[in-house]
Amino acid sequence: MGEIENLPYKEKRYPYHNAYLDYWKKSISNIEEFWDLKARDLVWYKTWDNVLDSSNPPFYRWFVGAQTNINLNTLDRWQNTLIFNKVAYYWEGEDGVSRVITYRDLFKEVNKFSKALIDLGVKENDTVTIYLPMIPELPISMLSVTRIGAIHSVVFSGFSAEALSTRIVDAKSKVLITADSYPRNGKPIELKKNVESAIKLAKDQGVEVEKVIVVKRSGLPIPFIEGRDYWYHELVNKYSDSIYVKPVARKSDDVLFILYTSGTTGKPKGIMHSVGGYMTYVYHAFKWNWDIRPEDVHWTFADVGWITGHTYIVYGPLMHGATEVMYEGAPVYPAPDRAWSIVEKYKVTILYTSPTTLRLLRQYGDEFVNKHDLSTLRILGTVGEPINPDVWEWYFNVVGKGKCPIVDTWWMTETSASMIAPSPHLGLVPLKPGSATYPLPGIEPDVLDDNGNQTPPGVKGYLVIKKPWPGMPLGIWGDPERFVKTYFGKYQGIFYAGDYAVKDEEGYFWLLGRADEVLKVAGHRIGTIEMEDALIKHPSVAEAAVIGMPDPVKGEVPIAAVVLKSGVNPSNELKKELIEVVRNTIGPIATPQAIIFVRKLPKTRSGKIMRRVLKAILTNGIVGDTSTLEDPTSVDELKRAWDEFKLSMK
Ligand code: PRX
Repeated sequence: MGEIENLPYKEKRYPYHNAYLDYWKKSISNIEEFWDLKARDLVWYKTWDNVLDSSNPPFYRWFVGAQTNINLNTLDRWQNTLIFNKVAYYWEGEDGVSRVITYRDLFKEVNKFSKALIDLGVKENDTVTIYLPMIPELPISMLSVTRIGAIHSVVFSGFSAEALSTRIVDAKSKVLITADSYPRNGKPIELKKNVESAIKLAKDQGVEVEKVIVVKRSGLPIPFIEGRDYWYHELVNKYSDSIYVKPVARKSDDVLFILYTSGTTGKPKGIMHSVGGYMTYVYHAFKWNWDIRPEDVHWTFADVGWITGHTYIVYGPLMHGATEVMYEGAPVYPAPDRAWSIVEKYKVTILYTSPTTLRLLRQYGDEFVNKHDLSTLRILGTVGEPINPDVWEWYFNVVGKGKCPIVDTWWMTETSASMIAPSPHLGLVPLKPGSATYPLPGIEPDVLDDNGNQTPPGVKGYLVIKKPWPGMPLGIWGDPERFVKTYFGKYQGIFYAGDYAVKDEEGYFWLLGRADEVLKVAGHRIGTIEMEDALIKHPSVAEAAVIGMPDPVKGEVPIAAVVLKSGVNPSNELKKELIEVVRNTIGPIATPQAIIFVRKLPKTRSGKIMRRVLKAILTNGIVGDTSTLEDPTSVDELKRAWDEFKLSMK
């Protein structure tokens, strides 16, 4: 190995590169054989009769006939092993408080809370909405819900009351787990207040939340409704440490959880993941991504409210008996070196975060990085957006001091875990800054043109996944047709990801961003139509079009062009109101960077807003073909409004 250890990660020819390629080819030549073997690494109550049921595509079913519970693999498995005494979570609050939670502590707490949920009447297949900040009770709640065979729907704590209510109503959740309030950038975010508004909104739409469990995080006064609300600590403290709840035997193709994500309509999609498939794929991907070792301290610097946190803060690390860092707060609070101080304090060996976070941290200068001893780091990961090559180099050189591979992981809510990413094993995959490199074993992606033909090397096309994989979704909650149309409508039998991509001469994948009406704002997926729907709810708005504008830190920021109803005068007050409408409907992450008032929007003759034209005017001024425009003067109108806006900002 000596010779390999001295190889730089960007060395052109790697001695074991062919070994990776051979292994990958073998893995996809017989996927059933491959996944059969992988699934045997895990604990099942009963193994499968069939690895894959393809009788009703695209509703593929994995490990048919098998029974298990993800708790068997995250908690129960570690009893009577050394891992039971190991740290599962180092939790760090934004305000500096911290907690150390071992696997034994987690096991006890999950059993107590599982019992409490059962006593409250939560049953198998019930949906429980979890609206919690980044505190240990979030993974504890997820594990407890799945332990008793119920289904969780975690809603990001930065979402507004209205966004929460939409998800409660869609999932028909009667039980909600939340917290009083939590600190963000030093200020309290009043979660329970949002909950009260959301419950009212949900009731108006026919869904009544019957039980609310409240974790005391800050201790500030909150509205508390006797008979409906329960303090989390009072519930769990009723039980002794030895209480044990047997994990419910779930069918492999039962729903493990729902996670809502934005798409190309106003309504978010409830992506359903399966018990056995998710578990198997996440186990496999986590291992491949991090070459995880017993002494590792893994830190996914992301929120459990998104899929990254579900997989890489909760289920992935726990299935590997790994130690995870969980940080509650904002990246640069109270100072720009907060993240680096956490790496030093907990001796983090693997750091996983988004390009947006990296761009933000880089902005403050290298001295904040260099103030801290980061010598424990051995792997650096990134996810959520394309990483700019210069940010990649900064991560590699300044944070990793040139000795840590950059594991750029491409994936999405729908895929469960990473799909295209290099293995950090030395010698397997030479890295190229900005490319997520090659697929994981068992995964067969490709780049196709509109006609379904493979694009030649270097030519942009659409990213697809050609064969089913265990982490694929079971469907969209309550909307099987949308599932078929969204992911299997463009190409028959092939999963369409909705991303542009290109493969180079050497087969490396380069991900080029969304190909649909979805924005990536600071790595968060937000549908332009969701935002437009919010804007047109305002009584003064006739029409609205939202586009993503490139931003040096957030990747993209939303800009809205708004047509007012006749007789309404544009004003700065109105702009502020419209921004507030979006924040209240979706959440602060969707805050428009700018609102520009126009008299008309560029539309096709059939009335479809041409966001492409809008984007071109707002970003580079080169509009291209406008022959399909109904009214070409809309272009001049937009240019004028945009120039005026830019002038007003000077
Ligand atoms: O556009 C791709 C981008 O994020 C989208 C998925 O977003 P979401 O479901 O919120 O999941 C994010 C965390 C997994 C993709 O369609 N994306 C994700 N990872 C990368 C990426 N784009 C480029 N490079 C990546 N590594």
